[in-house]
Amino acid sequence: MAADKQVTTTGLLGWIDERFPLTSNWRAHLSEYYAPKNFNFWYFFGSLALLLLVNQIVTGIFLTMHYKPDALLAFASVEYIMREVPYGWLIRYLHSTGASAFFIVVYLHMFRGLIYGSYKKPRELIWIFGVLIFLTLMGEAFFGYLLPWGQMSYWGAQVIVNLFGSVPFIGDDLSLWIRGDYVVSDATLNRFFAFHVIALPLAIIGLVAAHILALHEVGSNNPDGVEIKDNKDPKTGVPRDGIPFHPYYTVKDMFGSMVFLFVFSVIIFFAPEMGGYFLEHNNFLPANPLVTPEHIAPVWYFTPYYSILRAIPPMWESQFPGVAAMGLAVMVFFLLPWLDRCPVKSIRYRGASFKNWIAVFVISTLVLGYLGTVPIDVWGKFGAGVPLVSNTEVATWVARIFTILYFAFFALMPWYTKNEKTLPVPARVT
Ligand code: HEM
Repeated sequence: MAADKQVTTTGLLGWIDERFPLTSNWRAHLSEYYAPKNFNFWYFFGSLALLLLVNQIVTGIFLTMHYKPDALLAFASVEYIMREVPYGWLIRYLHSTGASAFFIVVYLHMFRGLIYGSYKKPRELIWIFGVLIFLTLMGEAFFGYLLPWGQMSYWGAQVIVNLFGSVPFIGDDLSLWIRGDYVVSDATLNRFFAFHVIALPLAIIGLVAAHILALHEVGSNNPDGVEIKDNKDPKTGVPRDGIPFHPYYTVKDMFGSMVFLFVFSVIIFFAPEMGGYFLEHNNFLPANPLVTPEHIAPVWYFTPYYSILRAIPPMWESQFPGVAAMGLAVMVFFLLPWLDRCPVKSIRYRGASFKNWIAVFVISTLVLGYLGTVPIDVWGKFGAGVPLVSNTEVATWVARIFTILYFAFFALMPWYTKNEKTLPVPARVT
């Protein structure tokens, strides 16, 4: 990513350039950074993720000005923001709906990586930084959800922290250590606030910087999976299939951002809670440690993993196998660059086996995601009329089958990608 090119500028810019690598970095990362000319729809989501990161930080700063991280005041301070602070409702919805939008965008961004093989050599580290961002983002969302101190904040945190209690030997101490108390309490709220507003945002910003530096070191992949650096103009050294990031992709990303902001505004103004999917109904009731809500379910972006947890029965009187499977469902993404043994990157030129498995993976994630939004006793209705088995059992088995398929996508990958029947990859982008 060398910004060491000789730069000759004059005037104020020249004065700055003698003291700070402004022009050289502008060139290295924007005006002379060459990106493949065939980016499509799927390449909008990286810049949209950046936009949403900025949105979360800016709206978060304003929320923090009025929010009180105190178990006695937190719920009321959020209601105060919603009703009394000028445009407080807008700031809060931009942040809470922004969180869901962030996950939608990041899931689509990851899916793009999956279909175009962007995790493969030489982009393994871009992918690994991405998975680390994803993990941190999940933590960030979990910590943030406790802050409004509603019923679902409180009981969701209680359930999730209790899961750590199932870790063999150290479980009880571990969950006590995370909570800072025997139940979720003011101490928990204070530390979750600290993690949510400073620790994890700093980590995310650092990881995103590393993600983009790694990207600029090797260059972007593209929908054809052709390495544009392998075909450079001998005179200029510019990739023949590359175009300067600025102005071409800055303008394209601005267009994408406008379309996104339009859709985002419609949701913010007309359905900010998305019928309970983005902000759950129960969270408009203040936390009550004495009353457990009938249904405790996480926000939609965690539900595939929650279903995996629920699908796996306790073994040896321990919930740990389910908890471990849930953790593994996320961690397994780290291994993707080494599980996929097919040399072809883009799905355009890959074999039927890979395409079918991608479909299996997407369907499994969606089914598990849906089942995770449905309370366990309502799982019963799926099996209505099926003789001999209880209704809930049917839904549990559906979740089990899709859990197996979810993991099979990864576990069998070395085999179904090894001798894949691929199509010839073109030498230049199409
Ligand atoms: C805060 C979250 C994230 C931000 C701001 C972000 C930002 C970006 C940006 C700006 C790009 C270049 C533009 C593009 O290719 O769309 C990019 C590329 C990429 N990102 Fe992310 N990203 C995030 C999360 C993730 C996650 C969670 C993963 C995967 C687990 C990931 C994997 C990748 C890969 C593999 C590329 C290269 C894609 C290619 O060249 O085809 N990113 N990211």
